[in-house]
Amino acid sequence: MSETAADTGRQPAADAASGAPIQLENLSKRYPGNPSPAVDNVSMDIRAGETVIFVGPSGCGKSTTLKMINRLIEPTSGRIRIGDEDVTDIDPVKLRRKIGYAIQSSGLFPHMTVAENIALVPKMVGWSKSRVKERVEEMLDLVGLDPREFHGRYPRALSGGQQQRVGVARALAADPPVLLMDEPFGAVDPITRDHLQDELIRLQHELHKTIVFVTHDFDEAIKLGDRIAVLREHSHIAQFDTPEAILTNPTDDFVSGFVGAGAALKRLNLTRVREVEIADFPTVTVDDPLQSIFNKLRSGPHNELLMLDRRNRPYKWLRRGDLMRARGSLARAGQLVHDTVTRDATLHDALEAVLTDSGGRVAVTGRRGEFTGVVDMHTLMNSVHELLEADRLTAIEHQHDLEELRVQQTAQEQEGGAGA
Ligand SMILES: Nc1ncnc2c1ncn2[C@@H]1O[C@H](COP(=O)(O)OP(=O)(O)OP(=O)(O)O)[C@@H](O)[C@H]1O
Ligand SMILES: [Mg+2]
Repeated sequence: MSETAADTGRQPAADAASGAPIQLENLSKRYPGNPSPAVDNVSMDIRAGETVIFVGPSGCGKSTTLKMINRLIEPTSGRIRIGDEDVTDIDPVKLRRKIGYAIQSSGLFPHMTVAENIALVPKMVGWSKSRVKERVEEMLDLVGLDPREFHGRYPRALSGGQQQRVGVARALAADPPVLLMDEPFGAVDPITRDHLQDELIRLQHELHKTIVFVTHDFDEAIKLGDRIAVLREHSHIAQFDTPEAILTNPTDDFVSGFVGAGAALKRLNLTRVREVEIADFPTVTVDDPLQSIFNKLRSGPHNELLMLDRRNRPYKWLRRGDLMRARGSLARAGQLVHDTVTRDATLHDALEAVLTDSGGRVAVTGRRGEFTGVVDMHTLMNSVHELLEADRLTAIEHQHDLEELRVQQTAQEQEGGAGA
């Protein structure tokens, strides 16, 4: 598990610009020579500091919609507002300095070093040399690349995942309130993608930017999005709601098609270990005398103990028979702990760990890797049942509210009709 910003005690910059709301108003785009619009009359309110994900079939207009926000593509009609400013007609170059933009191929300039790529926008907006230099180091640090090592390298000397990180660092460098990302992790392998997603979540916890993120991958959407916009052809909005609502209450077959199979399993990605019951577990430490470990194993209600190392981190699972079999040698006894989860891990991660552990449980650790408790299969099953039940009730309530609204409206219409 990588160190988080909180672990290293790093603080967000005091002057960090947090997100601005984005409003799209009847936005349309017709490309010349194409009779049907790529984007047709889209209106959408994106709140300050939220991450909104666009998903939808290929060619439905996701990239076009995204690029209209920073006017890389000029809208044919409609308005765009960012913060309190109508940016539909302002100088697009100026506008783009206030909006970070990251794309699939990372979009780095090959003839510039990593540092020069990151420094691009801060220089353009007139930051002093020393401030730019400092910022480049800070950004590399933020995306988990050692400045000393990567500063002077050229993009071709980086792996795909590293290029992607530099792309994100560059997009964030001038501290824009808005960040647009078009399938930024599309071109990397699943493990690196998972890691980059975790990094983005961590960054967003610190920075609170307004992020609009395009992806093909619904699981990525669930993981990253505060809200997801499922788009049909011409960017018509099929559903725009929280991941929970879309998973449990898709508006129609088009949306369910996107959610795909296994909504219950996907739900696990939306819940964190800290939200379920973390149980106590009897522990000993490597420094405890053999006899007291023996006694604890024999007398306790459990036939198992967790041995912690000198820094209180999970080290070995010890069962009653283990010490006998190892003829009293602690060094040989027990099963090394090979997987732990933090309180911020998803239930999906926890389930994965529990399923691959022969004991059917996983140790939960705190920020410095110290032991805080265990989660087992039973707890996970109960939690998932409760979650799904709660989702179902919310969906029913939502339905009732809608029906009530409809009844009220009809009554009003009838009253209006009677009065006329
Ligand atoms: N420069 C262009 N000129 C003409 N038509 C274009 C242009 N760019 C995109 N289009 C068309 O507009 C529609 C929307 O394209 P867009 O790139 O926004 O889709 P998308 O949802 O991002 O697709 P994908 O998931 O494949 O990236 C498509 O039908 C595409 O062919
Ligand atoms: Mg696209």
